[in-house]
Amino acid sequence: MAEDKVTITDKKTGKTVEAPVVHGTMGPAGIDIRNLQKELGYFTYDPAFMATASCKSAITYIDGDAGILLYRGYPIEQLAKHSSYLEVCYLLLYGELPTPKEMEEFQSIIIDHTMVHEGLRRFYSGFRHDAHPMAIMVGVVGALSAFYHDSTDITDPRHREISAHRLIAKMPSIAADSYKYSIGQPFVYPRNDLGFVENFMRMMFAVPTNEFKAHPKSVKALELILILHADHEQNASTSTVRLASSSGANPFASVAAGIASLWGPAHGGANEAVIRMLEEIKDPKEIAKFIKRAKDKHDPFRLMGFGHRIYKSHDPRAVIIRQMCYDLLKELDTEDAPLFETALELEKVALADDYFIERQLYPNVDYYSGIILKAIGIPLNMFTVIFTMARTVGWIAQWMEMMEDEEQRIGRPRQIYTGHPRRNHPSEK
Ligand code: ACO
Repeated sequence: MAEDKVTITDKKTGKTVEAPVVHGTMGPAGIDIRNLQKELGYFTYDPAFMATASCKSAITYIDGDAGILLYRGYPIEQLAKHSSYLEVCYLLLYGELPTPKEMEEFQSIIIDHTMVHEGLRRFYSGFRHDAHPMAIMVGVVGALSAFYHDSTDITDPRHREISAHRLIAKMPSIAADSYKYSIGQPFVYPRNDLGFVENFMRMMFAVPTNEFKAHPKSVKALELILILHADHEQNASTSTVRLASSSGANPFASVAAGIASLWGPAHGGANEAVIRMLEEIKDPKEIAKFIKRAKDKHDPFRLMGFGHRIYKSHDPRAVIIRQMCYDLLKELDTEDAPLFETALELEKVALADDYFIERQLYPNVDYYSGIILKAIGIPLNMFTVIFTMARTVGWIAQWMEMMEDEEQRIGRPRQIYTGHPRRNHPSEK
């Protein structure tokens, strides 16, 4: 049988190099081009990594053509139906769904870590009152490394595990504090007798004068959103976390880098942008105008929540979330039904339009998640913060996997230099 290799020939020199093919358990194989530069003298050129696998990973699998998303082999639809967010966290971190006993232990470990150092809480008062909560998140999460020295020896697997638990547990507290600070209300401490989501919602909405009890439908909806956003293989923010930590940087600093990347409107910032867009459209009669703008190459406007680098038939997360929108808006007394109708109508018009059909542009996870978040009372500027909370486990699971990877070295892409050739300083003769 022929060996699984690809021969690359430089037609100019006639030199060839044999590149082994690297197979995973599913999905396209990759060509190992590590010898190419040594043998032929070329780099590979792939801006935005459209055709590059940067690592081997056993965590998340996506088939973008078929609209499939698996966490550790389990379809996202099944996890959304049967699992809690903390079960999904356990699965992503440890590779298997927990037994009831393992789950009980994991839950109690997470609960033990939900409080943040009081010194860290004083950081908030240094931010302007009108700071975006994502700006606060980048700063405060990065600052965790100044407080938890006892878990930053990245060569020690136990330290790595404690950091992972701390990040998952503290993120809701940090997120809620960033909101409380931005509206001038006192911080609310976590409570150990509440579930992960209820606890977060209470920290967001309780005040000293009034307790808060989350609506069970809202808890279920937010739990679903967290599950759907928990990991998504080597996306921009996850790749940022991997690259930042490949130098040996501690996980708190590396996750802060991931948060910065997630904030952008082409990534996690899109859920906020979708609501702003739907509110701007206001009347479904205006949809044609916005579709026209989205297609105009001279207009920077894009249909927010549409399109994905990988999904080319549908985003399975958007399908689940759309159904949740129907269920939730029926149950909750909100004013968001017209917004949902505008979203449905915009989706219908776009999906029938040749521009979107030819480019395979479908609603992504962010298209409907904002409607749910808005309906359960989460303010617009907290949408990407919720995404951050959800994705923390993905970042940290990917980081733990990378730390155990024998092929792991500092990430260092090369470039094709297009600047000035060597020249002398004007003072040199
Ligand atoms: N509205 C209008 N046109 C679009 C859109 C859109 N939302 N998305 C892509 N296009 C067009 C592009 O203009 C381009 O057209 P062309 O071939 O005529 O030049 C073509 O479709 C391909 O688009 P690219 O930008 O090359 O695709 P890429 O894979 O680089 O980008 C991205 C994917 C960033 C998601 C893009 O579709 C986009 O900007 N969408 C809106 C923002 C958004 O919803 N982001 C959330 C992504 S999901 C997540 O992070 C959770």
